[in-house]
Amino acid sequence: MYDDIFEELKDHAQLHVLRWWNELDEEARARLAEQVRRIDWEMLLKAQAQPVRERGHIQPVDGLSLREIAARREDFFACGKREIRAGKLALVLLAGGQGTRLGSETPKGTVDIGITRPLYIFEQLIRNLQDVVRQCGAYVPLYVMTSAGNDAATRAFFEEHAYFGYPAGEVHFFRQSLAPAVGFDGKLLMSAKDSLALSPNGNGGWYASLVHAGLAEALRSRGVEWFNVFSVDNVLQRMADPVFLGATVLSGRACGAKFVRKAYPEERVGALCLEDGLPSVIEYYELDKEMANLRDEQGELVYGCGVTLNYLFRADVVRNVAESSLPIHVARKKVPFLNDAGELVEPQTENACKFETLILDMVRCAGSCLPFEIDREKEFAPIKNRTGQDSVETARVLLAKNGVEL
Ligand code: UTP
Repeated sequence: MYDDIFEELKDHAQLHVLRWWNELDEEARARLAEQVRRIDWEMLLKAQAQPVRERGHIQPVDGLSLREIAARREDFFACGKREIRAGKLALVLLAGGQGTRLGSETPKGTVDIGITRPLYIFEQLIRNLQDVVRQCGAYVPLYVMTSAGNDAATRAFFEEHAYFGYPAGEVHFFRQSLAPAVGFDGKLLMSAKDSLALSPNGNGGWYASLVHAGLAEALRSRGVEWFNVFSVDNVLQRMADPVFLGATVLSGRACGAKFVRKAYPEERVGALCLEDGLPSVIEYYELDKEMANLRDEQGELVYGCGVTLNYLFRADVVRNVAESSLPIHVARKKVPFLNDAGELVEPQTENACKFETLILDMVRCAGSCLPFEIDREKEFAPIKNRTGQDSVETARVLLAKNGVEL
């Protein structure tokens, strides 16, 4: 075991990882060796070598408006319902994030947002899904992506709550991969003598993680043609929405993205646009002030189609969008680490780079996309923070407006 990882670490000038090897028992050694074996060296090298991403030529994109959707609702619904009943849709719930802004000790989906009675985030999501089951008369398989840190707690929570009434056989869990954090000197950080400092590798890795978990092939043979991928934190999320599915299928495009009209120019959501003629998502901090404030003749923000992290991807396209073609985002973060004396240091300033791929980059890789407008009052209540904007408080107000008893 030692020889294998010694060579690997030596090749990458990371031998300091073995500094405490002699102090470790068998179990701890096996744990560390497994982590080293799982390091995606190629990704680390690529992240460090990739040039700063230059954006292409950005232009506005046309989306399907609420009015247009209402006019064709029946056709879209009939098509979506047919696809769902034929088993062509699978759901992927992204629940592998760390929820640092919310600061909960337990997985984000287990947070109780009720007032007079418990109402868990996962519970509300399953309720929203049950609406579709009632409308379409069919269950949609749900694949929940967890991370190493929250996998056991997430599974246990669903089991303890009897899957909130969804058939247990239709709920599957898979873990996303981890990426090591690296100090600014390029050295891997350790979080303990037997462990690298690891964190989830971003939500862009969902399909690669499905493959890694051995589930992708089963989905293919089951005849799944579409994935509806959505975030854990929007409690008004309408997933497996037959109207959205039907509209995307009938558009002939490779993916669909639910968007809300931005509430104000600086709202911190990515915006759908065209980049060098291809659909793309531009982050709020990449839009300059002039672009962010630009309005059309109707007074709508030109770059105002805010993505809500609810996407449809055609399965054959996703298979071809290899993870390796997604750009790697390097985030500078504060990462606790062991110093040379083996003491855990909680840094006060950023000390490390974390590496992530993002699902929003898949839109560009997919090549074509149907932007599909939703009414934010009915479908957009993200919980990112404890208080203030996009918090439990704001989500409760919106849930109550939609008739949810809290
Ligand atoms: P966010 O970007 O809001 O990240 O994730 P987060 O980890 O939940 O929260 P912060 O930024 O630490 O406060 C958007 C969606 O992507 C999922 C999250 O669970 C959420 O549903 N996600 C994020 C993953 O599944 N894996 C990741 O590595 C990151």
